[in-house]
Amino acid sequence: MRIAASKESRSGEHRVALAPDTCTKLIQTGYAVSIERGAGETAFYADEAYREAGATVEPDPAAMLGSADIVLKVNAPAVGAAGRDEIQWMRPGTFLVGSLMPLRNLEAVRALAQRRISAFSTDAIPRTTRAQPMDTLSSMANITGYKGVLLAAGELGRYFPMLMTAAGTVFPARVFVIGAAVAGLQAIATARRLGANVFATDVRPEVKEQIESLGAKYVGVELKENASAGGGYARELSEEDKARQREMLAEQCATADVVVTTALIGGVFAPKLITPAMVRRMRPGSIIVDLGADGGGNCELSRLGDSVVENGVRIIAPLNLPAAMPTHASLLFSRNLAAFIQAFTKDKTFKLDLADDIQRASIITHGGEILHAKTREALQGAGESVARS
Ligand code: NAI
Repeated sequence: MRIAASKESRSGEHRVALAPDTCTKLIQTGYAVSIERGAGETAFYADEAYREAGATVEPDPAAMLGSADIVLKVNAPAVGAAGRDEIQWMRPGTFLVGSLMPLRNLEAVRALAQRRISAFSTDAIPRTTRAQPMDTLSSMANITGYKGVLLAAGELGRYFPMLMTAAGTVFPARVFVIGAAVAGLQAIATARRLGANVFATDVRPEVKEQIESLGAKYVGVELKENASAGGGYARELSEEDKARQREMLAEQCATADVVVTTALIGGVFAPKLITPAMVRRMRPGSIIVDLGADGGGNCELSRLGDSVVENGVRIIAPLNLPAAMPTHASLLFSRNLAAFIQAFTKDKTFKLDLADDIQRASIITHGGEILHAKTREALQGAGESVARS
């Protein structure tokens, strides 16, 4: 079977779905591997490195995708982009594996179903121990948390660590992290490594121990309703609980030098947690890094993909932060995809097995149907007629 990866078409994307290191692994597993010429350039992987790894470098992406059995992508393929209609280039029955974010890319899902592509989205795999090596969400969230804190450190007009200098002592920055799953925990760890005093909160009280194990202090409020939605994801708070949490958030933000927000509902949408009133109470010179930007933003004043100053407070809302660290992001992402493929390879062939819990959860389209229930509902909600026999 032939695996192929093409250039990413999303604007600002610098990652690539295959790193040379991963090509070698997949070839050893029994696959032939092709990569579009120049696809790794923005991640600093040269065509020559792919050739040395045993892959074929292809100048014609349409021909390459048309002869592939498995296509690897970082993002959902662009639909109808001028000159690059990747979905139409693939043959019906081709497997596609990538972080398709189906709920954010409904049009692409519809086109994939129509083209009868068997598309797996790695962001929909269950968060189980067995699925961990394939978990692109975690690999990328780690980068987001790390880079987000570095962005804040770069902008802050103060040191992160306490420093004793000949000119006297400066005290450590106070960092407040909202949401303590993968990105939040990495943000806490990174801020701690830089020497900051870190406080963190989450609506799932079970993360208190994890926050403390990283040397940060947990701050929380007692919620009336359980905020866990299962699978480690959070649900939206009731109005009453939102009001309780708002008070605590306002207090914490007012004393923080840096606020890093990473909260998501159901792993997809960002709840609005920081209000303009909270920002007005913050000290001039402090920074908010809104890492919920890809899900719509956790701060009401965030300008997605941009940075604004409100009342002396800089609010940075970066989109697709993993693309800002493309070499390691691509390496880890492609290892996740390779782990997915290897787990379901028998006799050098990728086997579709919808009885398997990982495949069942992550298959989005197959045989002309949309099998992912939430995506189907979203498309129906959007007024689409999606038939499923
Ligand atoms: P996520 O990106 O979906 O959510 C981020 C965090 O925001 C969550 O901890 C959530 O509780 C929190 N949040 C939501 N609303 C909030 C609010 N109003 N205020 C404060 N915080 C709020 O999380 P991610 O990183 O995708 O992880 C989801 C779950 O999966 C976690 O429980 C994580 O521990 C678990 N996980 C398990 C893995 C495994 O066992 N293989 C691998 C990776 C993650």
